Amino acid sequence: MMLLAMTGNAPRHENACSGHSTKRPFSLFHSLCLLVIALAFSGQVLADCECGYQSDNLDGEYQDVFTDIIETNFARMPDISTNTDWLRQEFNVTRAKARGEYGEMFYVKDDVEYVDKVGNRASDGLQLLVRKDLVDGMVPVAEVDTARLDLSYGTFRASMKLTDIPGTCAAFFWYFNDTQEIDMEFLSKEFDHSKNTYPVNLVLQSRAAAAHGYDASQTDNFIKANLPFDPTADFHEYRIDYNPSEILFYADRVLLAKMNGSNVPSPNSHGHLILSHWSNGNPKWSGGPPKKDAPLVIRYLKAYFNSTDPKRTQDWSDRCKNAKLETSVCKIPVVTRENQIAKDYFFSDYEDKAKNQTVYEPTSGARTFEPVVSWTVIVVLLMVGYAGGYF
Ligand SMILES: *[C@@H]1O[C@H](CO)[C@@H](O)[C@H](O)[C@H]1NC(C)=O
Ligand SMILES: *[C@@H]1O[C@H](CO)[C@@H](O)[C@H](O)[C@H]1NC(C)=O
Ligand SMILES: *[C@@H]1O[C@H](CO)[C@@H](O)[C@H](O)[C@H]1NC(C)=O
Ligand SMILES: *[C@@H]1O[C@H](CO)[C@@H](O)[C@H](O)[C@H]1NC(C)=O
Ligand SMILES: *[C@@H]1O[C@H](CO)[C@@H](O)[C@H](O)[C@H]1NC(C)=O
Repeated sequence: MMLLAMTGNAPRHENACSGHSTKRPFSLFHSLCLLVIALAFSGQVLADCECGYQSDNLDGEYQDVFTDIIETNFARMPDISTNTDWLRQEFNVTRAKARGEYGEMFYVKDDVEYVDKVGNRASDGLQLLVRKDLVDGMVPVAEVDTARLDLSYGTFRASMKLTDIPGTCAAFFWYFNDTQEIDMEFLSKEFDHSKNTYPVNLVLQSRAAAAHGYDASQTDNFIKANLPFDPTADFHEYRIDYNPSEILFYADRVLLAKMNGSNVPSPNSHGHLILSHWSNGNPKWSGGPPKKDAPLVIRYLKAYFNSTDPKRTQDWSDRCKNAKLETSVCKIPVVTRENQIAKDYFFSDYEDKAKNQTVYEPTSGARTFEPVVSWTVIVVLLMVGYAGGYF
C-alpha cells in the first residue's frame, strides 16, 4: 500500500520513513525504506523516460516535458576533476573588471573546492571556498560550469548550504551572455540571524542592468525575496523553472517569485549553468572579502531541459517513438520542505531511465541503488521485518 501511495504523488505524502524509525538504532527498517523509495520513484516502474522528464508546475500539475538531463550528486563524487559534465573555472579578473574593490582569482586547486575544515574531502558535497586572504589584490574564489552549452527551457535544481560568514555572493544561475542571465544570488552579509531574515536576490540581467553598471537592483528585473528558513543551517533545494511563459524561482518548492516580460532570454539562447562563490569587496553587492574562509557547499545539481543542439533534438525524436504512451515520460519527483526523500533520487542511477543521455558515469561504486531491485530481496526483508516485529 505504501508503494502505491508513494508512486501516485510521492511529494505530497508524509515521509513514511521518518515516522517511527527513530527509536530503532538501526537500520533494517531503513534499508527497507530505501528499497521502497527506490521502487516508488523508479517508478512508474515501466517508464524509461525516452520521451522526456516532466516537471510539476506551480499548481502541482505535471506539465512541461524536457528531453535532456544533467544530474550530479556531488556528495557521492570523489573527484570533480574527472567529471566530464563540469568544468572548474580558472581565470583572474582585475579589480577594474570585477567592478569592486578587489580583483578575483578563480582557481581550481583541489584544496579550494574539495576539503572540509580538517582537511578531509568534503562528503557533504562540492565545496566552493571564498578565501579571506588576498592574492595579488585578488580575492581567491571558486566556480564550476556545466560543460554543456545547449540549455534552453528547463527546470534547474541545486541543493546548497550557504555560508553565514558575511562578504560573499553565492550564485546559482543560467547564463548565456551578460544581458541574458537568470540568477539566484545570495549575499551572506544580508543574512540576519537576529531578525531571522534571509534574503535571496532574483535577477534577470538585462541591458538596463548593464547600463546601471550591472547593479540590477536599479531595474524591474530584480526581486529580493525572503527565504522561509535559515539557508546557512542546512541544505535546501533552490530551483529555477525557465518556461516559455515565465520564470519561476522556488526554495524547497515554495514559490519565491515569478518573472516574465522583456528580459526573459530568447529560447534560441544556448545557456549553461554556473555555480559560483565570489567576492570583490563591492559594498553595494558582495561586500567582503569575508573575515574567515567561507564555504558554499553544493550537494547536488539536477537539470532537466531542452537542448538548442539540433543533434540532441534529432536524438530525441529517434528514441521517442510514442510520446503519448504514459510510460515514455517520467515525472520528476519533487523535493519539498516536509518531504525530502526525492533529494536522493537520480534518474541517471538507473540504466533504463537515462538512455541516450550524456550524464557522466563514474566507473565504480557510486550508484546508491542497483538499477534493478530484486523483488526477492524485498520479500525476504519484509519477512524478516515481520518476524522481527518491525511492523
Ligand atoms: C521540449 O522539447 C520537446 C521535444 O521537442 C517538446 O515536446 C516540449 O514541448 C519542449 N518543452 C518546452 C517546455 O518547450
Ligand atoms: C592568477 O593570478 C595568480 C597570482 O598572480 C597567478 O599565480 C595565476 O597564475 C593567475 N592565473 C591565471 C589563470 O592567469
Ligand atoms: C546577448 O545575446 C543577445 C541575443 O543574441 C544579444 O541581443 C545581446 O546583445 C547579447 N548581449 C551581450 C552583452 O553580448
Ligand atoms: C506575464 O505574467 C502576467 C501575469 O501572470 C501575464 O498576464 C502576462 O501575459 C505575462 N507576460 C508575458 C510576456 O508572458
Ligand atoms: C543517442 O543516440 C544516437 C543514435 O540514435 C547516437 O548517435 C548518440 O551518440 C547517442 N547519444 C548518447 C549520449 O548516447
